[in-house]
Amino acid sequence: MGSLLIMTTPYLAQPDPGAGRLPARAAFRSDAAAIDLNGTWRFHLSPTVAEAPADFWQVDFDDTGWHDLPVPAHWQLHGHGEPAYTNVVYPFPIDPPHVPTENPTGDYRTDFDAPAAWAGTPAVLRFEGIDSCARVWLNGHELGVTSGSRLPSEFDATAALIPGGRNLLAVRVHQWSAGSYVEDQDMWWLSGIFRDVTLLARPAGGIDDYFVHADYDHLTGRGTLRVETAAPARISVPELGLLDAATNTDHAVGQVRPWNAETPYRYQATLATDAETVPLWIGFRTVRITDGLLTVNGRRILFRGVNRHEFHPDHGRAVPMDVVRDELLLMKRHHINAIRTSHYPPHPAMLELCDELGFWVIDECDIETHGFGLEDWQGWPGNPSDDPQWQGAYLDRMRRMVERDKNHPSVIMWSLGNEAGIGDNHRVMAQWTRERDPGRPLHYEGDHECRYVDVYSAMYPPLATVDAVGRYEQAADELRRDKPFILCEYAHAMGNGPGGLRDYQDLFERYPRCQGGFVWEWIDHGLRRRSADGQEYFGYGGDFGEPLHDGHFVIDGLVSPDRTPSPGLRELAAVYAPVTIAATDADSVRIRNRYDFAALDQVTYHWVIEEEGLPAAEGTLPVPPLAPDEEVEVALPRLPATSAESWLTISARLTVDQPWAAAGHELGQGQVMVRPATPRRLPTGTKRRGDTLGPAEFDPARGTLRALAGMAVDGPRLDVWRAPTDNDEGYYGDRKLAQAWRDAGLDRLQHRLVDLRRDDDAIVVTTRVAAAQQRNGFWATYRWTADQQAVALELSVTPDGEFPFPLPRVGVRLAVPGTLSTVEWFGLGPGEAYADSRQAARVGRFTRTVDEWQTPYIFPQENGGRMSVRWAELRDEHGGGFRVSSPDTYQLTARRWTSELLTAAQHTTDLVADDVVYLNLDVGHTGLGSGSCGPSVGERYRLGPGPHRLRLILAPLP
Ligand code: GAL
Repeated sequence: MGSLLIMTTPYLAQPDPGAGRLPARAAFRSDAAAIDLNGTWRFHLSPTVAEAPADFWQVDFDDTGWHDLPVPAHWQLHGHGEPAYTNVVYPFPIDPPHVPTENPTGDYRTDFDAPAAWAGTPAVLRFEGIDSCARVWLNGHELGVTSGSRLPSEFDATAALIPGGRNLLAVRVHQWSAGSYVEDQDMWWLSGIFRDVTLLARPAGGIDDYFVHADYDHLTGRGTLRVETAAPARISVPELGLLDAATNTDHAVGQVRPWNAETPYRYQATLATDAETVPLWIGFRTVRITDGLLTVNGRRILFRGVNRHEFHPDHGRAVPMDVVRDELLLMKRHHINAIRTSHYPPHPAMLELCDELGFWVIDECDIETHGFGLEDWQGWPGNPSDDPQWQGAYLDRMRRMVERDKNHPSVIMWSLGNEAGIGDNHRVMAQWTRERDPGRPLHYEGDHECRYVDVYSAMYPPLATVDAVGRYEQAADELRRDKPFILCEYAHAMGNGPGGLRDYQDLFERYPRCQGGFVWEWIDHGLRRRSADGQEYFGYGGDFGEPLHDGHFVIDGLVSPDRTPSPGLRELAAVYAPVTIAATDADSVRIRNRYDFAALDQVTYHWVIEEEGLPAAEGTLPVPPLAPDEEVEVALPRLPATSAESWLTISARLTVDQPWAAAGHELGQGQVMVRPATPRRLPTGTKRRGDTLGPAEFDPARGTLRALAGMAVDGPRLDVWRAPTDNDEGYYGDRKLAQAWRDAGLDRLQHRLVDLRRDDDAIVVTTRVAAAQQRNGFWATYRWTADQQAVALELSVTPDGEFPFPLPRVGVRLAVPGTLSTVEWFGLGPGEAYADSRQAARVGRFTRTVDEWQTPYIFPQENGGRMSVRWAELRDEHGGGFRVSSPDTYQLTARRWTSELLTAAQHTTDLVADDVVYLNLDVGHTGLGSGSCGPSVGERYRLGPGPHRLRLILAPLP
C-alpha cells in the first residue's frame, strides 16, 4: 500500500463516483454469515484534509487520544463541528468539482474479530450510507473510495480480512466532495457514517443478486413469477405450491392475492442454492400507464401522499428503525397511502416496512443541484445534469438505487432526483432504468416537458392549473398530454397550515388524470437543544452559527421533530379519510368508500346526537359492506326530540384490529345538523348608573371595560393583527400578505376615542383606529346594552380608506385575569380550525386549558384559533369566570401572551406567560393557504376590510 496515494486526495474533486466498489446489487439478508460492525468507533475530526493524520489507517496507529463516536451517526450531532442548514444555496463556492480547503475530515477506526470459519470465503464490506465521501482501509490495505451519500457501497474485503484474528477497519470521511454538488437537497448538511456497516460472508455458489418479477393479471386474477439470478437457483413459494422451481423462468402460479397499498398481501418465499438461502417476501402487482392513467393491478390509483425526509431531532438522518416503524404507523393512521422518498433513497429497511404495511412509494435518486438554478433559472449555467463529466456519477447513483430497491412491491415508480434542472444525464439515467426495469414508470418533476419520464409532475401548482390539467386544457404539448398528472409536492406544511387541502382533493377526485399528490412535507427538521435555563426547544438554520442559512424554512412538516402530529396532519387525515359521510337533502346520509382496493366490511357506523354538545342518544347505523368506490344512501336513525341546537355525528370505525390501527380507529366522520339554534337576542333593558351598565364597569378615558362583575378586565378593543404564520409571510409564495399588513401598520394600531355617549340604557363608544403615519384606518363603534345578568356588545367596523389585501383578523382583544385557566366551548373543535382548514373539526362541546389551546409551532406564530364558537366559558379553578356567547358565531383564541410577543418570538422558549389571559374574539380570520411556498389563501377564504359586525354577550358565571 503506497503512502503517496494515501496523502493525495484527487478523488475529492472528481465527479466520478469512486473506485474499488463492487457492482451494485439488491439489498437482502440471507443465512450467510455476517458481522454487524455498528457500535462505538474511535473518531478524530480534522479541519482540513492536510491536517488529518496521514497514517491513521495503519493498524498500529495510536488512537488513544481520539474520541468515541457511535456508528451509525452524524459527527456534528455528537459534539464535532456544527450542523448547517441551507435550502437552495451551496454553503461553498460554486466551483465544481472543487471543494474548499476547510473540509472537515473525520477519521474512523474500529476493530473486530472475524471467525476462523470465514477462511476461504469471500467477504464483502458494506456501507449503507456515508456522507459525503469516504476512503476505506482494512488491516492497512486500501479497499477503495466511495461517494453517493444515501446509497450503499460495497468493497471486496476478502484479501485484506484476517479470519480467526483481529481486524482493523479505518475509514476517512470528508464532509465535502465533488459529490456534494449533486447533493444540494433542502436539509441539514450532516456528515459521517450515518447508516449501518456490515461485513458479509459471500459463499461461493451463493446468491449475489436477484430480481423478483411478480406480475398480477387483474383480468384473470393470476400471477406470474420470474426471479432473475445470475447463476441458477431455486425459488419456493409454499403457499402457491411452488417448490424448488427454477429461476430465470416464468412460472404461472395460478390465482394469487395481489399486493396493493391497502391490502398489502405478501407471500413468504425462499430463494436458494446449495450454498445460500435467502428468505423473501413477494408481492404480486403490476404497474402500468394505461390510457394516460397510472394503474396498479388494472385500477387507477390516487396518491394520498407525503414527502418523507429521514429525520430525527437527535440523530439527524440516522433514524432508529423503531422510530421509522412508529412513524409509518402514524402515517397509516392518518390515512396517508403514499410516500415520495424526498430526495434520496431511504434506509433500505424502511422500504421493507412499506411493503409490509402498505404504501405506494416513489423512490427518488440522490441527486439535486438546485444551487445551479439560482443564478439563472432558465439556464442553470454549469449544471452537472448536462455535463458529460458527470454522466458516470448520475448513472451510478441511479443504478445503485434501482439495484438496491428493485425487489420491493411498494416501490412503484423511480424518480431521477429532485431540482437538478434538466440535461442529457437524465436521458442516460432514464434509458438505463427503462432497460433494467421496464416494470416501473419514471418520475422527475424537473423534466417539465416529460421528455424522459412517464408522469407529468408539478410542484405547488395553483388549483386553477390542476383544474386545467384535469380537463386536458393545459399542457397542450404532445409529450405531456397522454400522461397522468401528479403533484410531487403541494400544500406546504410550514407552520400553521396548510390551508386548502380539501380543494385539491376535490380536484383529484373529480378528474381521473389528476392522481393525487404528496404534501410537502412529513416532518419538521428541528434539532433538539436546550436554553441556558434548561428548557428544551428545537433549533433551525442560524442557530448553529452558520454564516449562510435559510432559517426555519426547514421547519415545514406535518409533524414536529419529535413526531407530534400538528393540526395540519389532523386536517390531512380528514381530507384523505377513506370513508366520507355527507348529509343529503333528504333525511339521509351518503356514505362512500374511497379506497381504491379495500372493501369496507369490518367497519361499524356509530352515531350520536348531541344537544348543544351533550349526548342525547346514540346507536349504530346499519350500512351494507361497501366495495371500493361504492356509495350508499342511508336513512337517518330515529332521533329523540331536542330543544337546543343539535347535531348528529356519524363515525365509521374499524371493528377489528389492523396491523396499523386498533379496532375502534376512525376511518371517516360526518355531521348533520338536526336542529338549528334558537335565534337569540342581545340583552337590553337595564339602566345605566354612571359608568356602570349591568355587570360592566367602563373606563371613560378609553371607552373600554375596566371590570366585569368585579373582575378586572382590559378591553375589548378592535384588533386586526395576528402573529403572521409562515404562510402569511409568503417566503416563496405568490403573495407576501404579512408584508402588506406590516406596511399598513396593522401591528401597531392606535385608538382615538371620538365619542362616548351615555344613553339611559346604553353606552356607545365611537373610535377611529389607525397606525402612525397612515391615513387609512377603521371606524369602530361599540354599542353596549345590558340586562341584570349580562352585558352585550354590538361592534361595527367600517374601513376608512383602501385596504387592497385581506385582513388577518377582525375582532376585539380582551385581557382577563390569568386565573381563568380553563375554556369550555360549544363550536368547532376539538382542535384548531381556520377558514380553509376545518375538515378535522366538528361541532361539539369541548374543554381545554388555556395552555392546551396553544400549538407550540417550532417557529412561534398565530395558532390555536377555534372557529364557529357559539359560546365559550372561561373558568378559574373554583368554577368562577364568565361566558361569552353570540347570536352569531365567532372565532376565538386564548393565550397567556400578546400577539406582539407571539410575533416577535423566534423559538418556543421566547413565549413567557403574563399574569393575564388575552382573548381574541373575532368575526373571522383570513384562512391559511400555502403561501410559504406556493399559492396563498384562496379567494373565498380571505377576510375583506368590511364593514363587519361582531355581537357578543358577556355574562359572569353564577
Ligand atoms: C421544493 C423542494 C423541496 C423543498 C420545498 C420547500 O422546491 O423540492 O425540497 O425545498 O420546495 O420546502
